[in-house]
Amino acid sequence: MIPAQKTQIPGPRSAELCAGLRRWESRNVTFLSPDFPVFWEHAEGVNVWDVDGNRYLDLTAGFGVAALGYSLPAIAAAGGAQLRQLPLGMGDVHPSAGKVRLLELLSRLTFEAWGRGEAKSILGCTGSDAVEAAMKTALLATGRPELIAFQGSYHGLAYGAMEATQMGDFRKPFIEQMAKRAVFLPFPNCWHCPWGRGERSPAECDARCRCALVDELKRVFASRSVGAILVEPMLGRGGMILPPDWFLPLLRQVADEEGALLIFDEIFTGFFRTGPRFACERSGVVPDLLCVGKPLGGGFPISACIGPAEVMDAWPESDGEALHTSTFLGSPLGCRMGCAFLEEIERRQKDLAVEEKGKGLLAGLSDLALPASPLKNVRGSGLFIGVEVNDPQGRPHAALASRLVSALLKAGVILLAGGPDRHVLSFTPPLIVTQEELDWSVTTLHSLLERMGV
Ligand SMILES: Cc1ncc(COP(=O)(O)O)c(C=O)c1O
Repeated sequence: MIPAQKTQIPGPRSAELCAGLRRWESRNVTFLSPDFPVFWEHAEGVNVWDVDGNRYLDLTAGFGVAALGYSLPAIAAAGGAQLRQLPLGMGDVHPSAGKVRLLELLSRLTFEAWGRGEAKSILGCTGSDAVEAAMKTALLATGRPELIAFQGSYHGLAYGAMEATQMGDFRKPFIEQMAKRAVFLPFPNCWHCPWGRGERSPAECDARCRCALVDELKRVFASRSVGAILVEPMLGRGGMILPPDWFLPLLRQVADEEGALLIFDEIFTGFFRTGPRFACERSGVVPDLLCVGKPLGGGFPISACIGPAEVMDAWPESDGEALHTSTFLGSPLGCRMGCAFLEEIERRQKDLAVEEKGKGLLAGLSDLALPASPLKNVRGSGLFIGVEVNDPQGRPHAALASRLVSALLKAGVILLAGGPDRHVLSFTPPLIVTQEELDWSVTTLHSLLERMGV
């Protein structure tokens, strides 16, 4: 639903609550400014209402979680029923039946669908949990503790996952407590070539990029004890970057040659966000381990590291004390909501028309990215789309991106800027968004740019 005209954003109740946050929440958690944040009160479909009664169109899907929008009756009913029946279990000791159902669905929708046989999973609560389970599995499976990850990647901020996260300054203050087990290689980026693209033809450019990456991969495997390559098939928080088509097949080939595991982090890109069920399906490359999270629980925090039985069986049988567990592992509530989410999204996948709506949004944003506009380098797949905000010299313009995010909020649109330089407007709306809502968002962005005189 397109938001009505706003009165005041942030409104008085949000401003009052901000004062409470400033007082009682640690610094450096919620960003507080005169324009930010608004406090959410309830949400439905693609809309969020704040505590002052303003309605917004959420083009972030709440960090990519609300793939089917907010408060979907089927998921809410499943969650409500489970809450009344059995809100918690003893994950690695006495689980609920719902856990088995979720594990089975995860197997069916991933490795079984890819012809790799049945899969086993380790459930977690956060994306970081899934990545860390994958890292542990890789060590058990190969005996090699190090990993290759990519510049600009974001795999979470728990210490294990942060070993593989490279974007932004997240590691900097804590680096002394880190094991530094990851080697970071350039992520092939056709918009900002990590190897300094010259005047070459696209074909020559592609070939050089590929050769440079092969050299780096071989060098690292020769000099380090690498058991896994961990990669986002498309960089999400790192700036909505789609790699060239040869990238994932190349990683598959090198991982096979070196006896390492290939781990795809599809926590952001999974479950039809980019068009197909998983972003890796575009390339036909099957990983050894797949990490999923974000939308999986239909709003409840649940994640999984999934792998074919022969890979996951690197874990020994439990002798009564699990080597890897947590209090809320396989929460009955998360499992029930996860099953409801998977059943619902599978049932509705065709009607979502993610590719078509994504093409419409890409076209609308491309029309705004005229030579004199600060909007540049529109790119994406499905409803996973980024557009850079640059200064006239073509450099990242984080301040303008931030002004646009605030102005959009005042106009009733929730959007975030990502990328290492915080200048990539990142569009990841609920997959149920309509073309009309997307068109309205583009028009709103256009009129804001005009009003700002940029
Ligand atoms: C690709 C990817 N992996 C992992 C994570 C970490 O997930 P969480 O914040 O749930 O730990 C994120 C979060 O944005 C992500 O985008």
